[in-house]
Amino acid sequence: MHTFIENMPKAELHVHLEGTLEPELSFELAQRNHVDIPYKTAEEMLTAYDFYDLPSFLTIYYAAMSVLQQEEDFYQLTWNYLSKAASQHIIYAELFFDPQAHTSRGVDFSTVITGIHKAQEAAKKELGIDSKLIMCFLRELSAESAMEHLKLAKPYLDWLVGVGLDSNEKDNPPIKFTEVFQAARAMGLKLTMHCDVNQDNTLTHIHQCLHDIEVDRIDHGVNSLEDDNLCQTIAEKGIGLTVCPVSNRFVVQSLTSDEIRTMLKRGMRATINSDDPAYFRAYLNENFIELQQEGNFTRTEIATLAANAFHVAWIGKAEKNHYLKELQRYLDTAA
Ligand code: HPA
Ligand code: ZN
Repeated sequence: MHTFIENMPKAELHVHLEGTLEPELSFELAQRNHVDIPYKTAEEMLTAYDFYDLPSFLTIYYAAMSVLQQEEDFYQLTWNYLSKAASQHIIYAELFFDPQAHTSRGVDFSTVITGIHKAQEAAKKELGIDSKLIMCFLRELSAESAMEHLKLAKPYLDWLVGVGLDSNEKDNPPIKFTEVFQAARAMGLKLTMHCDVNQDNTLTHIHQCLHDIEVDRIDHGVNSLEDDNLCQTIAEKGIGLTVCPVSNRFVVQSLTSDEIRTMLKRGMRATINSDDPAYFRAYLNENFIELQQEGNFTRTEIATLAANAFHVAWIGKAEKNHYLKELQRYLDTAA
């Protein structure tokens, strides 16, 4: 089963580039950019990764970003993730980035997006892995700040496929950003928002995503199972749910394998993703492998989860068919 998962052609749709910052790269960049970090070794840094909910994770996540300053830093971050992804037989990825976490430290928007984009181009050419970019807004910041960043992105519209909403969900509901997301849609961008597991008012947030914002996907969205109407809407509209099993485990002490199986049974397009793999110490294959073990998933279920990601990816029909055929070819020949 390990080998079956490892070699399977996969897509990843929920991975934060800043969440792929490995301790080793942090140290390298800290030295290059003359930034002090409060750890002596990568191992010491890992022992400080003590999170148990969303806010405790976000504190560590933002503190670590101070080493990301130059275009080449963002290039290296992106290149490293895409190299790792290609080695895990990920053939297509949609990448989140958090520009406000960088502009707020005095790093230019153009520096961030140019470094990322150049690495995406290089990885496509040299590693054969295709990827697209999703700009996330930090939901604890104002709607005005989000709108300003949408404007900053206008010259780079061709480099973006969609917008997302992440960071601290408490008291920051989807409808805070109705206008920004409407403007993004008018610019031709796809829409997704985080509805993290077990947040306050989570069912209201999921409802707002579906009926007020009219998102194309929901990130996480596991709690939708508590409401039959939400489940039905998600299934009927074919809304993708980007579930992150190892990330969930930090909050709910389970890989949510029962919930994921229920989603499949209800015809909801669940997908498996890594979220912040450098922090949660699990890239996509490890997420699939651990999930399979916890839930004793069959090959057919694993293959359905992998196929779902191509179905709900923000790519054209021809590309989708191409990837799905590649997956089918693999399933037909896998021993
Ligand atoms: N949830 C919210 N914000 C985030 C996450 C997440 O999973 N990862 C990085 N920022
Ligand atoms: Zn996330």
